[in-house]
Amino acid sequence: MPGEPMVVGIGGSTGPHSVTNRLLEQALAETAAFGVRTAVVGGDELAQLPIFDPAALIVPSAAEHLLSAVRAADAVIIATPGYHGGMSGLVKNALDHLELLRGDERPYLDGRAAGVIVTAAGWQACGTALVSVRSAVHALRGWPTPFGVTVNSAEQHVGKDDVDERVRGALRILARQLAEFTEWRASARVLSAAAPTPRAGVVR
Ligand SMILES: Cc1cc2nc3c(=O)[nH]c(=O)nc-3n(C[C@H](O)[C@H](O)[C@H](O)COP(=O)(O)O)c2cc1C
Repeated sequence: MPGEPMVVGIGGSTGPHSVTNRLLEQALAETAAFGVRTAVVGGDELAQLPIFDPAALIVPSAAEHLLSAVRAADAVIIATPGYHGGMSGLVKNALDHLELLRGDERPYLDGRAAGVIVTAAGWQACGTALVSVRSAVHALRGWPTPFGVTVNSAEQHVGKDDVDERVRGALRILARQLAEFTEWRASARVLSAAAPTPRAGVVR
């Protein structure tokens, strides 16, 4: 219902068996259970994006949904597989496209919480990729939630219809933090209206 907060899931990887896609889907379901509207820009859609070109003069049509979804979002969930210790190129390229929001009243991820989900085949990449996404969220002026979800796909089961109960519980905590943030943010909007955030161009 319009007026309710909106959380947008961004990320995943390509193909029908992606663990990251499944986690993102489950996280959005947990978020919706808190009365929040949700939308997703998933791995297969992100794969249609061109490599971000900072010199391009027009917005690529494949990026329009991503940009409008983030503009409408009160919070986002960013989900990525760990690739060589960081986030995947697919997800990084999507975040690079958020540069196209630089001229907005709420530039980049300004004023939006960002829950992060990482899946990797080992714990080391779970941790390092989580940090890489949170660093990007900070650069984009977003608010990483205190709780992030890391899943070691070699040890924890994530199937189409059965997600490990501990993982499901972790996603619920993430969802609760996002839902709470949107409530706090709605209260803070009164303050923002009185003293708008200064526009600082490309300064991060
Ligand atoms: C190109 C590539 C690089 C990867 N690098 C790492 C890595 O550095 N550490 C790790 O633990 N797993 C690594 N993995 C494994 C993936 O993170 C893991 O299988 C993940 O669950 C895949 O998610 P998906 O099913 O959504 O594609 C890598 C996989 C690929 C394809």
